Amino acid sequence: MRNVVIGFLGTVLDMGRKRKWKPTVSLCTHPGFSVDRLELLHDRNYNRLAWSVKREIETTSDTEVLLRQFDLDDPWDFQEVYGKLFDFAQGYGFDEEREQYHLHLTTGTHVAQICWFLLSESRHIPARLIQTGPPRGEEDVTKLDIIDLDLSRYNALQQRFDLMSREMSEQLRGGIETRNPAFNALIDRIELVASSSDAPILLLGETGTGKTELAKRIYELKLQRRRVKGRMVQVNCATLRGGTALAALFGQRRGFTGQPGSERTGFLREADGGVLFLDEIDELGLEEQAILLHAIETGAYYPLGSDIEASSRFQVIAGANRDLAALVSQGKFRPDLFARLNMWSFTLPPLRDRREDIEPNIMYELARVERLQGRKTGFNADAAERYLRFARDPGTLWPANFRDLSSSVERLCTLAPRGRITRTMVETEIAALGRNWHETEADPDRQIVQDALGGQIDGIDQFDLVQLAQVIRTCRTSGSLSEAGRKLFAASRAAKASRNDADRLRKYLDRFDLTWAALQE
Ligand SMILES: Nc1ncnc2c1ncn2[C@@H]1O[C@H](COP(=O)(O)OP(=O)(O)OP(=O)(O)O)[C@@H](O)[C@H]1O
Ligand SMILES: [Mg+2]
Repeated sequence: MRNVVIGFLGTVLDMGRKRKWKPTVSLCTHPGFSVDRLELLHDRNYNRLAWSVKREIETTSDTEVLLRQFDLDDPWDFQEVYGKLFDFAQGYGFDEEREQYHLHLTTGTHVAQICWFLLSESRHIPARLIQTGPPRGEEDVTKLDIIDLDLSRYNALQQRFDLMSREMSEQLRGGIETRNPAFNALIDRIELVASSSDAPILLLGETGTGKTELAKRIYELKLQRRRVKGRMVQVNCATLRGGTALAALFGQRRGFTGQPGSERTGFLREADGGVLFLDEIDELGLEEQAILLHAIETGAYYPLGSDIEASSRFQVIAGANRDLAALVSQGKFRPDLFARLNMWSFTLPPLRDRREDIEPNIMYELARVERLQGRKTGFNADAAERYLRFARDPGTLWPANFRDLSSSVERLCTLAPRGRITRTMVETEIAALGRNWHETEADPDRQIVQDALGGQIDGIDQFDLVQLAQVIRTCRTSGSLSEAGRKLFAASRAAKASRNDADRLRKYLDRFDLTWAALQE
């Protein structure tokens, strides 16, 4: 390997007037460092000095000196110096197979030093930095340091980075000592992405796997790593319906709806400089998706009723518990938005696939409820053993994941006499969970009706239940009462047996004290 040094001519130091020490000459004649070639950058006004330095070096060492005229109008102007050095680097033709490059920092202006630093850090110049200084004390050898900007080569620094990223990962895990290797690997990856990229992050996973919780922690981490300055604006896309969705997201000009004071800032604007968390993004309408994609890509959009473009720069975290790829193929989600969000997508595993993490999570929940209730609570030994055995059993599915676990622990704590959870209580809880899950699983019709009626279904016959469930489903997937009516009464409509479908449907819902509006909530 040939050793090549690139450096500026030191117009004061290399003259050797003030002191005897000349940095460029002493670097090339250094006993512990041999320079095969020196590329000496100099201004045309210093031609003579450059030639005399070249002669001195070539008579006292084996170094070949190439003079490179490098004219600067103002050696203190960052833009000019960087621009010209950048051009120099682009045109140089570095041959890393055969040559090893060094940038000599000691000569040239501070601006030049900064530029050398930036260009080598960004690898536009594949070089290490070299720094020289006059001999110290008794010695008569020039002081020479080589600085490698590849931080991964410094063990002590690397250890500090590792420690920091471990702390960040721990923060993402909410301080819970999780043991599941797949989950821990996933978190480490998220840590890496969140702290080094501003691209959108998509969090997938069943309901209750902790997507919303994790999004908040990712934002905290980005804030600490100074990747965002603004706030996190959380939007649940499932609550954005119809006409108000656009105004809620993109804002609305004052007086647009004719009412004074109807101006809206919009979530995008509020998230400027921060994070926009789009939870349940699979529920977002196609029109909103299109405008959103454009806003993510360009930072620009039009508020409702306004012909002045608004701008906002925000980072996106999106959450969804349905398979977005499947929605794309069904035409319910825009492929281009999906592609944009899918760059970093992470699927949180369900609790039943993280059996080894159930125990630390129970402990975490216990501590949370203790804080909430302001009293100490604990399991009796036999109760703890029984509950854990149940919780970790392969047959226990935890269908709503942390939501189930969290409420189960909270129920136990609330009912615990004098803060002790007993074996009997645990048995009762296990039985209740089993019944609950069984019902949900076995009878989705029952579940949907129970949901719509707020639990009051005892007086309803199974006969009606099945019909009502189907009516509710149709209402929820239709844009209006009339549309739902048309679907439900299609046959009698075709036979011209009934005229007003919407009215017929409204009367049917009335029988169960249900309204169209309530079903849309
Ligand atoms: N270790 C944990 N990690 C994440 N969430 C937890 C944990 N322990 C308890 N929880 C609680 O579980 C509940 C569900 O979490 P979260 O809302 O983040 O789930 P989600 O994946 O967003 O669900 P959904 O898809 O239904 O919105 C929250 O109340 C959360 O506080
Ligand atoms: Mg959520």
